[in-house]
Parts: sequence; structure tokens; C-alpha cells
Amino acid sequence: MRLRKTKNLEKRRESCSELRLPYTLPTFKLNEIKDYRQYFDLEEIFGNPNPLVLEIGCGKGQFACTYAERNPDKNVLAVECEAGVLVKACEKAQNMGLSNIRFLEMKAEYLPIFLKPQSVSEIYLNFSTPFPKKTYEKHRLTHKSFLEIYKTLLCSDGFIAQKTDNQGLFEFSLESFSQNGFALYNISLDLHKSDFEGNIVTEYEQKFAEQGMPIYRLEARPIL
Ligand SMILES: C[S@@+](CC[C@H](N)C(=O)[O-])C[C@H]1O[C@@H](n2cnc3c(N)ncnc32)[C@H](O)[C@@H]1O
Repeated sequence: MRLRKTKNLEKRRESCSELRLPYTLPTFKLNEIKDYRQYFDLEEIFGNPNPLVLEIGCGKGQFACTYAERNPDKNVLAVECEAGVLVKACEKAQNMGLSNIRFLEMKAEYLPIFLKPQSVSEIYLNFSTPFPKKTYEKHRLTHKSFLEIYKTLLCSDGFIAQKTDNQGLFEFSLESFSQNGFALYNISLDLHKSDFEGNIVTEYEQKFAEQGMPIYRLEARPIL
């Protein structure tokens, strides 16, 4: 995806700094991280011990903000690696006056450094970048290397929910989850024509649904 330059990015990031979690990345490479840890104190950050819900690749934040608004008894952490996109999500949360959401401008690969094992109750992967080329397969957010991260982060009754318009990514994900210790539930091959209740439509979902494309959805839980 080619990104347009975001106007006044630094100023806008600064003006929503209270919603963005600050961190410093170690100077060494990801594969050298091993046991390096720098956990956020989320109870202190949110001011309560409520369940933590992650959205990875939150884009402009429509899902994360709506989820936070509908679930004031949960804490939402929305992760996105593109600064220009994330700042729009932060601004949305600010405008909605939400207090139970924070944002992390970070690649999902780094999450185990900052989040304690078994600290997450739900993970949402909404319209993740499909990376259709085989050579980029390891960047797909349902590649086995990410599933290992999610297994560490999820608490014992935690689950992952994925939605996508991309049939190739969905097929890849079904295989990846089932080959790497997850059980699959509530699979839908056309979410908008199913009886699923309470769906929160994301920016990408709206675009694809308007084009008449089916939306695929699944839930996955680690087999303990
Ligand atoms: C296609 S957009 C979907 C945005 C939003 N979830 C929606 O449904 O409208 C995918 C987003 O995932 C982000 N992304 C891709 N790989 C990521 C990674 N490894 N860590 C964090 N974000 C990532 C991209 O920057 C992009 O904003």
C-alpha cells in the first residue's frame, strides 16, 4: 500500500501523545532480542485491571474506537506500524472522548517485549495486509511466527478474531491456525449475509462490502 504524506504529522502526534504509549526499542535486531523485556504497566496506564483487548493493524481506528465505546469495561490497545495512519486513529479516540483506549505505534513483531505473557483476552486482526507474494508470506499476521506471539500473549480463555475480504489470506490463515495449535470456531464465508450479531464494520470492510465482496471471518483459540 502506498501511503500519502500526512500533513503536520509531528504536531498532530504531539497533540495526542497522552493516548500513545511511549517506548524505546532496543538497538539490536529482532532476532537478537531473546529475553529482553520492558513490560508496560497497563493497570497503571488504564487505571484499572480490566481485560485487555488488542487490535493489530488498526488503521484509522474505526473498529478499535467503536469497540472501546461499546465496551467501557474493557481496555483496548490498538497497534499500527504506520505513523500517518495511527495519528488519525488517535484523533478519532480523542474526538469521541474515550478513556479506555491507547495506541501503540509499533510493528506487531515487537509486542512480546512490551506486553506480559497471558495478559491479553482478545486479539482482533481486521483486514490485515494480505502480502499475496509467497516471498512475503512471513509478514502475514497469521504466519506461524505471529501465532507463536499470540499464544504467549493470550490468557487461558483468550481468543483471536480475524476478518478479511482476501480469500487467499483466509485460506492461508485457516491452514496456519489449524497447523499451529489453534482450534477454529464460528467460521463465516460471507459475514454480512450470516446471522452474526454485533459486527463492528471497519474502514476497509465498508469499502469492500460496498463493492459486493464477501467478508470472511473466523475465531481461533489456542488448544491448551
Ligand atoms: C489493510 S489495513 C486495515 C486497516 C483496518 N484494520 C481496517 O480494517 O480498516 C492493514 C493495516 O495493518 C498495518 N500493518 C501491517 N502489518 C503490520 C504489523 N506487522 N504490525 C502492525 N501493523 C501492521 C498496516 O500498516 C495497515 O494500516
